[in-house]
Amino acid sequence: MNELPLESIFADLTDRSRSMLIPVLQREQERSGYLSREAMVAIARELNLAPSKVFGVASFYNQFKFEAPGKFHIQVCRGTACHVKGSATLLETLERETKGCAGHTTRDGLFSIEVVACVGACSLAPVVVVNGKFHARMTDTQIRSLVSQLRQEVENE
Ligand code: FES
Repeated sequence: MNELPLESIFADLTDRSRSMLIPVLQREQERSGYLSREAMVAIARELNLAPSKVFGVASFYNQFKFEAPGKFHIQVCRGTACHVKGSATLLETLERETKGCAGHTTRDGLFSIEVVACVGACSLAPVVVVNGKFHARMTDTQIRSLVSQLRQEVENE
């Protein structure tokens, strides 16, 4: 994510054809972490497409998210090595502790949970990644204490 305005994703766009839709959607998701309704309307306007077309294409692909990520974006690896080491239970515990649900952001905006495939650190399984930081060989107890630590961080701000 970055601080640049939405317009920045159009700035160096020389081609405004329909074929640019996916790359532009990807740029916007990189910029703000998700695709808001306003952003998709602006993209439609810029590429001269119907907003319904943009919504339709974006919702077809799993890579696009339509909810703002939480302050803490937590990725739970569900690749084979992590699965064997208990990532399903970790995910359940995480959902319970955050009162969240995989694929969504909690109501308080603190946590978003994403299930991901192998993150390339199988020897550290099971792996949980919080805002890009890897947490190796996680246990149920550790994930519970991680969530309360993150809550504490927010309270101390
Ligand atoms: S399966 Fe989780 S890091 Fe490879």
